[in-house]
Amino acid sequence: MEFSIKSGSPEKQRSACVVVGVFEPRKLTLPAELLDKAAEGYLSDLVRRGDMEGKAGSTLLLHDVPGTLCDRVLLVGLGKEKEFREKEFTGAVRAAVKTLNETGAFDASIFLTEIAVKKRSIAWRVRQTAMAALDATYRFDAYKSKKDEVRRPLRKLTLAVERRNELTRAEEALAQGLAIAEGIAFARNLGNTPPNVCNPAWLAAEAQAMAKELKLGCEILDRDQMEKLGMLSLLAVARGSHQPPKLIVLSYKGGKAADKPVVLVGKGVTFDTGGISIKPAAEMDEMKFDMCGAASVLGTIKAAARMQLPLNLTVVVPAVENMPGGNASRPGDIVTSLSGQTIEILNTDAEGRLILCDALTYAERFEPETVIDVATLTGACVVALGHVASGLFASKDGLARALLEAGDEAHDRAWHLPLWDDYQELLKSPFADMANIGGRTAGAITAACFLARYTKKYDWAHLDIAGTAWKSGGDKGATGRPVPLLTHYLLQRAGALD
Ligand code: BES
Ligand code: MN
Ligand code: ZN
Repeated sequence: MEFSIKSGSPEKQRSACVVVGVFEPRKLTLPAELLDKAAEGYLSDLVRRGDMEGKAGSTLLLHDVPGTLCDRVLLVGLGKEKEFREKEFTGAVRAAVKTLNETGAFDASIFLTEIAVKKRSIAWRVRQTAMAALDATYRFDAYKSKKDEVRRPLRKLTLAVERRNELTRAEEALAQGLAIAEGIAFARNLGNTPPNVCNPAWLAAEAQAMAKELKLGCEILDRDQMEKLGMLSLLAVARGSHQPPKLIVLSYKGGKAADKPVVLVGKGVTFDTGGISIKPAAEMDEMKFDMCGAASVLGTIKAAARMQLPLNLTVVVPAVENMPGGNASRPGDIVTSLSGQTIEILNTDAEGRLILCDALTYAERFEPETVIDVATLTGACVVALGHVASGLFASKDGLARALLEAGDEAHDRAWHLPLWDDYQELLKSPFADMANIGGRTAGAITAACFLARYTKKYDWAHLDIAGTAWKSGGDKGATGRPVPLLTHYLLQRAGALD
């Protein structure tokens, strides 16, 4: 879809469709009023007769509205004006774009961008409009022999701004929104790809292809190289699979050579059977999404490179498949991690931390400014926070605050959980430096505490995205979260946010 920015009045738009909002109950927004005036009360009459109450998510398509230059007018319900916030704003954009896709309109001018959202700037509204529009039209049908075709898809969306002096900021925000949306779609595509295709080698090849396109540094370590380094914890997870493990390292250099990089580490378990501690059969297919942390950091570096952010960014992805097999790790095995610390593997299904700990130690060599790991790490995090917020842990409160704020701004929220030392004793092992599980309680926290033992040399945060990386049920699929949070954090750091 093509996007552009324009300032001008709705009744003068020569487009296939003009989109304006209506608050509940029956209150026209300013652009809708302008149309109504040009149409000599045509819209207010309709609204008064009850054809559009303004209920959130409702739409009404009108043809040949008198006094206007456009072919169609789409009224979009916004809900109550007092309750109109971020979620209602993006919801209205989604509803509009979905409806537009079902009409014959190839292009549309959307005036929802002119509606004030508390605490949010015009740049925010433009970014979110671009992101929501692309998210709403996302499809993953690469593996369907018959594609569900849209007969006349929307090809061009023009975002209206009220004042000419907003044009420059809006153009900038549009470019950002499109870059972030591209990162989100990339992450969703990787996540949705079936696990017989998306294995560690495939993921590495995808990363490599992206690196080439965007001129990023790229290094892929294979099993031998990892063995020589001593990444025996990571390799213990890969043992049961016929798919060889890969360590993917990408780097984007948009800052000064001397600037320390932000390092993002993403869990890349391309399929998690649990290994010898095998998972139950129900919904096991969803464990193809166990590489969504990897997908999100790859999507984030893609967006950062597209936006040419003035900072240095490195992405590290440990990619493995967790399978049972004759050579698989057993409960009771003890391995020595890259850091030198030993781990008793009590449960082979707690594999995420086993690959992340070696990747986090490996990250030290980049002398990072900050390290953030992203992982579908624990079912316990889903129990605690559901599918709304990602779990956030951080070694410094300032870093936690910055990430919480970024999540809030991007409407991709996280919630801060504690990393107190009191929880560390749950990881005690009688035979090794630590066990890889902590017992029945506080599962998300003990997993984070395990990682904390490997991240003492830099400022570090951990995002547990087990509940937010994908949706189950009818609209099963990867969400692309937390690409919005991470990209906003980077935008903020780079001083590129309004
Ligand atoms: N990938 C899973 C976590 C997961 C489970 C995410 C369900 C989303 C939905 C992870 O590798 C895992 O299996 N964790 C175990 C840890 C336990 C053995 C300590 C879990 O959460 O059950
Ligand atoms: Mn597991
Ligand atoms: Zn897992």
